Amino acid sequence: MRSAPGRVNLIGEHTDYAGGLVLPFAIGLRTTATAEANGRDVVRIRSREQPDEVVEVHLADIDDGRVEGWSAYVAGVVAVLRRRGHDVGGTDISVAGDVPPGAGLASSAALECAVAATLSDAFALELTDDEIAAVAHAAENDVVGVPCGVMDQLVSVHALAGHALLIDCATSQLEHIPFEPHAQGFDVLVVDTLVRHSLADGAYAERQRWFFEADDDSDVHRRATRHVQSENERVRAATEALRSADWQRLGQLLVASHESLRDNLDVSCPELELAVETLLRNGAIGARLTGAGFGGSVVGLVPYTQADAVVAALGDAFGRVGLARPVVRQVTSGAGLGAESTDSRPT
Ligand code: GLA
Repeated sequence: MRSAPGRVNLIGEHTDYAGGLVLPFAIGLRTTATAEANGRDVVRIRSREQPDEVVEVHLADIDDGRVEGWSAYVAGVVAVLRRRGHDVGGTDISVAGDVPPGAGLASSAALECAVAATLSDAFALELTDDEIAAVAHAAENDVVGVPCGVMDQLVSVHALAGHALLIDCATSQLEHIPFEPHAQGFDVLVVDTLVRHSLADGAYAERQRWFFEADDDSDVHRRATRHVQSENERVRAATEALRSADWQRLGQLLVASHESLRDNLDVSCPELELAVETLLRNGAIGARLTGAGFGGSVVGLVPYTQADAVVAALGDAFGRVGLARPVVRQVTSGAGLGAESTDSRPT
């Protein structure tokens, strides 16, 4: 059995696919997977959420990429391993996820990484953490069909508790940056607006086309480029702010990141705006949408003496406009897959 975490991206949004900088951290919500060879030519997939439903896929269909729905994230990992020459045959795979899907917390990366790791154990593949991240990323890109960057899989595998992970997505170079807001008097709140998005629905891929394919002198290309360049600067500045424990500066950078995502990249929505505004009006020193946007969650940095009041204010603000009360989670930075069985704090 192996488990891999979801993540919150502190800053560095919509930059990974452009070879930019990102600064996510893993959270305590995880997905667990077990795998056992069944000696047949089928993969059987069971989830804790639907214990009576077993999805059965023939290896021939997996090899041809004929997989769909949520089980594609699982079968996709099997497909990629087999394409890469690993001896993975019929298997019974069970998964149990605590990372809410569609909330901007990288539930799919947690699922793919946990499945890749448990298959590595079950078939004695001895995959390294980097190989697990690469297989998980390829499953999402090539089989599920979402052209995501490398951030989510890398942080799910490599995160250390008490740290954020600075990733240079051009080189995959990693640096663990101490991140312990609670010790400095802050809570990190993740506000799930419950507006669900699917990265497969096209808007995410469209933002990549703005950056890579649109005419150089088009408005959308200029805006996407402005976002990526300025966001990379903000990630550098945020890393410095963390190193010098300048939390106010970090908060300002989160707000600037959000404004660029909203104004340049157009990936916010009214519910995300309401969450950010309410957080900032009630004492948060910084807040921004986290993940791809179009719904999902906001991350806010809140003095912990004010956390309860902020949670109440969010419920009131959403209720006033007829929206369901958002789910607010206080998160801390947790361990990735590779550190799950060890004390993950370096000394
Ligand atoms: C999703 C993708 C990531 C990244 C973010 C936006 O989470 O999976 O690769 O592009 O969106 O920063």
